[in-house]
Amino acid sequence: MVQTVLSAQEAIALEEKYNAHNYHPLPVVLTRGEGVHLWDVEGKRYYDFLSAYSAVNQGHCHPRIINALIEQAQKLTLTSRAFYNDKLGEYAEYLTQYFGYDRVLPMNTGVEGGETALKLCRKWAYQVKGVPANEAKIIFVRNNFWGRTLAAISSSTDQNAKNDFGPYMTGYEIIPYNDLEALAVALEDKNVAGFMLEPIQGEAGVVVPDEGYLRKAYEMCHAKRVLFIADEVQTGIARTGKLLACDHEQVKPDILILGKALSGGVMPVSAVLANDEVMLCLKPGQHGSTFGGNPLACAVATAALEVVKDENLPANAELMGEIFRNRMQELVNKTEKAVLVRGKGLLNALVINDTEASDRAWNVCMKMSENGLLAKPTHGNIIRFAPPLVITESQIHEACDIIAHSVLTTE
Ligand SMILES: Cc1ncc(COP(=O)(O)O)c(C=O)c1O
Repeated sequence: MVQTVLSAQEAIALEEKYNAHNYHPLPVVLTRGEGVHLWDVEGKRYYDFLSAYSAVNQGHCHPRIINALIEQAQKLTLTSRAFYNDKLGEYAEYLTQYFGYDRVLPMNTGVEGGETALKLCRKWAYQVKGVPANEAKIIFVRNNFWGRTLAAISSSTDQNAKNDFGPYMTGYEIIPYNDLEALAVALEDKNVAGFMLEPIQGEAGVVVPDEGYLRKAYEMCHAKRVLFIADEVQTGIARTGKLLACDHEQVKPDILILGKALSGGVMPVSAVLANDEVMLCLKPGQHGSTFGGNPLACAVATAALEVVKDENLPANAELMGEIFRNRMQELVNKTEKAVLVRGKGLLNALVINDTEASDRAWNVCMKMSENGLLAKPTHGNIIRFAPPLVITESQIHEACDIIAHSVLTTE
């Protein structure tokens, strides 16, 4: 095949022609990334304020992670779990000690992590809690997002994600987020096995629950012998200013789901962590994945986690997040075009004064792209801002200048 350099228009046309139309990207064609920056095919540089939905917390192409990838790729990439490999044991020890759990179940994508957590929870319900066969219930919250499989969309309240994909998974109950009274009512059912939620709802528009909600919900679950399952696929690994978003309220989930930044965005690596009582419910043949726990993933994830610690990314996220929200609050005070800023650490959102007809949030994103910063609306009028956590103070100020200027100059 002859190697040709595609223009932006050609690259977009090819995607449009041969891909399923299941995404609506901004019209930029990216070819290179380093740290907090991305470059398009014309050589224009952007701040990346999405970080592949919080997968690239350590920054694009972090040399330490890429070196781990290259070194391991030259040795051994995949064995399947039919055999042992010399990386998985060490990785499992490192990961479980890092997060303080007995065991890990390695998977690949975030949604597989969610599926794994639910299977574990159901098994535990039948084998340990004593729920009658096929009666186990899992509680979810409204506007949750944990992926696109049938099990995931069955718990969704987003009609666009859900319509025309039925029939749906049963054994689910959906209650409002940030509502302890609703949780108390739902927990009255003795067949409830688990309560699964994001500590901050990412896709829903960076919705931060009231202080104390997670702690109280966790205590209520424990009082009823219900597993507290935290989906930290987007919030975990330093994104919100602590290693885990649950750490803000000293909550240690019974089942913890990680993904995305577990590999620094280098490859799909996810993990489900739990203690023996839960994890040892699974026996050979009851769950698995060809790629889960492959040596390449183990090497990459170990390096990615080392970077988080060695570069103090939780502290930097906390500090830069404060600066970001202060700057955005100044903007909100100055213009009616932006209504509200919210978030924790470097997972933040700006709510734009918008209607479906005006489409201002999308236009702001187009304007920011022109001005050298990439971000995307989530749920219409909310723009999520989630840069790599390696961002520096001068970079965050420069980025805030771009955002403020773009909001102010978009009609
Ligand atoms: C909170 C949360 N859970 C799960 C997922 C699914 O992850 P993946 O796309 O890797 O399957 C996402 C993806 O955005 C997410 O934000």
